Amino acid sequence: MKALKIIFSIALIGLIFGGCAYNFIVEEDIIDPGDPDAPEVSFSSQIVPIFSSKCTSCHYTGNQMPDLTPDNAYNSLNSSRYVNTSSPESSLIYTKPSPTGSHVQYSEAEAALVLTWITQGAQNN
Ligand code: HEC
Repeated sequence: MKALKIIFSIALIGLIFGGCAYNFIVEEDIIDPGDPDAPEVSFSSQIVPIFSSKCTSCHYTGNQMPDLTPDNAYNSLNSSRYVNTSSPESSLIYTKPSPTGSHVQYSEAEAALVLTWITQGAQNN
């Protein structure tokens, strides 16, 4: 019986702390663009899906520039008009969908990912 109680207590403690750790991870989900140790953002697996979910209904091939479809997004953005790696915050691909204007907006987490991608050199990765 004593052994059972101990096992139950450990399981309970595990559940309590496990729950906290989970909440903590969810809150920390927004990447910090200013953190030099931030994990590397992948253009193809993290940025392109943002474009596909909320941009390509308008920004598709032959329509509104930049073309943000998966096959063309990188080439389309690989220009000083959209991306400025020496002053990432002034990049049009970051500022245009920001919460100030009437244009479609990034969520806070999406904006942070885009800014981090630019800060890390806007690689085709
Ligand atoms: C409902 C249609 C629509 C959606 C969805 C949309 N846009 Fe746009 N976007 C436009 C239009 C129209 C313009 C041109 C007018 C303007 O500059 O506001 C534009 C302009 C832009 C520009 C500036 C282009 C230039 O060369 O001046 C960028 C960058 C941009 N959008 C990025 C995005 C991103 C990133 C998303 C997704 C988060 C997105 N847009 C979603 C319609 C859309």
